[in-house]
Amino acid sequence: KKAEIIIDKYFLTGKVDKRIFGSFIEHLGRAVYEGIYQEGSALSDEQGFRKDTLDLVKELQVPIVRYPGGNFVSGFHWEDSVGPKDKRPAKPDLAWGVIETNEFGLNEFADWSKKAGSDIMMAVNLGTRGPEDAKNVLEYCNFKGGTYYSDLRKSHGYKDPHNIKLWCLGNEMDGPWQMGHKTASEYGRIAAETSRLMKFMDPTIETVACGSSNLTMPTFGSWEYTVLDECYDEVDYLSLHQYYGNYANDTVDFLASSKGMDDFISGVVAICDAVKAKKHGKKQINLSFDEWNVWYHSNEQDQKLEKWVRAPHQLEDVYNFEDALLVGSMLITLLRHADRVKIACLAQLVNVIAPIMTSDTGAWRQTIFYPYMHASVYGRGTVLNTQVLTPVYESKTYGEAPYLDSVCIWDEENDALTIFAVNKSLDEDMEVSCDLRQFEGCRLAEHIVLTNDDMKAVNTEADPNHVAPTHSDATKLENGKMHTVLGKHSWNVIRLT
Ligand code: AHR
Repeated sequence: KKAEIIIDKYFLTGKVDKRIFGSFIEHLGRAVYEGIYQEGSALSDEQGFRKDTLDLVKELQVPIVRYPGGNFVSGFHWEDSVGPKDKRPAKPDLAWGVIETNEFGLNEFADWSKKAGSDIMMAVNLGTRGPEDAKNVLEYCNFKGGTYYSDLRKSHGYKDPHNIKLWCLGNEMDGPWQMGHKTASEYGRIAAETSRLMKFMDPTIETVACGSSNLTMPTFGSWEYTVLDECYDEVDYLSLHQYYGNYANDTVDFLASSKGMDDFISGVVAICDAVKAKKHGKKQINLSFDEWNVWYHSNEQDQKLEKWVRAPHQLEDVYNFEDALLVGSMLITLLRHADRVKIACLAQLVNVIAPIMTSDTGAWRQTIFYPYMHASVYGRGTVLNTQVLTPVYESKTYGEAPYLDSVCIWDEENDALTIFAVNKSLDEDMEVSCDLRQFEGCRLAEHIVLTNDDMKAVNTEADPNHVAPTHSDATKLENGKMHTVLGKHSWNVIRLT
């Protein structure tokens, strides 16, 4: 197969907001307990934070982490999670049918985030609670002192405010599974009032309103429109969530899911702009794709889980090589929409549908770790409007899908150009050319490849490097023109500096 990538250094999609490489830690399964925190483990530091997990999180350069949910947040009483640990109540978590001990809470997460080098994207409970409580938790986190909740924080040993700048107004409030789920107009009103009160308290924050839980929700479209109609002026972002699975074991169709994601983003952008037009609005609502990933491997096993235990092995998808390819394509899709997608969270970060897995004896990288790390480390700068002339195929679920997904990032500061590319063909390599004469003096730094003969290959604790990146010598630069061969079913990072 043959394809061409066309870029122009003056034809830009937009600057990459680093928060597009965010992730997510929910109080769910072993994400917190045994994932980022394990008191008494030889692998943990003096605060009980797993050092091996922290090292891998730093390798990913995760700029921001959403917390504490997810569905969990819709029943969360944040004040249970602060203050002396021996006074914190254990409570049933109705979202996941487990017991939450609250040994790890808001302040521990703030400390952990600092150590990880990440900012926090905090979610408030708009399920069983409302604006008053959201205002209180913001006061606890961001108010300098001299008030009830800010002084409470100080009495818990945190003199300085946490200064959390980004706040989610609830989680998946359209979903009937959600505690306190609402109709679009009920939610839109509450989101507007919550955001208004919170911004009275701290005008420097930004807020994210809940969009649909996924594209197949029966209320998709009308939910977005109605919610924004109520809260357009009060909020900054609208959320999108989407998970994919290869249930039918149809890999080509599964790999076309990024086309579905692309359509989803374009659709939500259109709705945001329709509400803007109707309101003669001045500002633009941007998108927060604050849950995205592959999630299906653990579904069956999770049906059998015992209820009301602590931190069970829940949502522990073991990712294979084809999942990594799709994650790569989804990252490319998010970057191609960098003009409107400002925040995105790979859901989640550790153990629960995650790039990092832990056991009592160590931590390792799942297959999806690699495209996520490459994008986060090399994908900062400006997205060039990347035209991809590629052969296409007819996928069952998403219609016409490209064999080649690609995006180019120009990091002017460091004089670096990075091309991310996925060849989705299962049986043919792809010859790709790209004219780089405008990028004078650029030299090939490296061509990183992730591929495997076995689409179902996985990494395990016993064999943690089974699926790992290698280097390719298939890329040549001659007179400013790049020629490369992208192996069949491969994720590629071509770095020019
Ligand atoms: O990430 C797992 C769950 O998926 C989250 O709790 C919820 O928001 C979504 O349905």
